[in-house]
Amino acid sequence: LFPVIAIDGPTASGKGTVANLVAEALGWNLLDSGSIYRMVALAAAKRGIDPANEAALIPVATGLDASFVHGRILLEGEDVSVRVRLEETGNAASRLATHAGVREALLSRQRAFCRAPGLVADGRDMGSIVFPGAFLKIFLTASVEARAERRYKQLIAKGLPANIEDLLRDLRARDARDSSRAVAPLKPCEDAVLLDTTTKSIDEAVRFVLDLAGE
Ligand code: CDP
Repeated sequence: LFPVIAIDGPTASGKGTVANLVAEALGWNLLDSGSIYRMVALAAAKRGIDPANEAALIPVATGLDASFVHGRILLEGEDVSVRVRLEETGNAASRLATHAGVREALLSRQRAFCRAPGLVADGRDMGSIVFPGAFLKIFLTASVEARAERRYKQLIAKGLPANIEDLLRDLRARDARDSSRAVAPLKPCEDAVLLDTTTKSIDEAVRFVLDLAGE
C-alpha cells in the first residue's frame, strides 16, 4: 500500500488549500473527499431527493458518475465545477453526510484514490475511518471568525455570492452538525497532530505538514 497523509478539520479551516499544496510539493495524489459529498448533493437535487432521505440517497452515492478532468469536475458528463462550491451545495452535503449508509457507500470510491506514489486526503474522517493507517494525521483548525473571513474571500474571488453574517451563521450550524452527528463526528483522532492556523499563513501551514512528513 501507498503512504497517506490525512488532513481533517472543520469547514473553511483551509484544509483543502493546504492539502492541495502538500500534494503538489510531494507529487502525490489528492483526495478532496468533501467534493464527493458535494457531488452526491448535486446528484440528489437533480433527482428531487431530499438530503434527509437516506434510503433514496444510498443508490445515488453508490452509482455516482463523477469525474475530474483537467481541473474540471464533471457530474454525469456535465461541468459542475462552479455549482459544487456553492454554500447551498455544502450545506446539503453536510446534511446527507450524517447518514451511515451514505458514508459506507462512498468508502471504496475514496479508498481508490490511494495510488502510487502516495495520497494526501482531506475531509472529516480521513484519519479515523477512511485511512486509519495514514502515517501522518493532521487536524487543522482556525477560529470561526477567521474561517468565515477566508470563505468570504474565496467565494468573492470566484464571483460567487457571499455575506459575512450569513457565512458566520452557516459555519456555526455546520460545525454543530458535523461534530454532533452519530456517525463519523468531526473530532481529532488520538494520533492526530493539531494545527491551528488562525494566525498562520498558508505557507507556514504547508511547511509544518511537510516537516512532519519528513520532507
Ligand atoms: O469545507 P466545507 O465544509 O465547506 O466543505 P467540504 O469539505 O467540501 O465538505 C462538505 C460537507 O461534507 C461537510 O460539511 C461535511 O459534513 C461533509 N463531509 C464529510 O462528512 N466527510 C468528509 N470526509 C468530507 C466532507
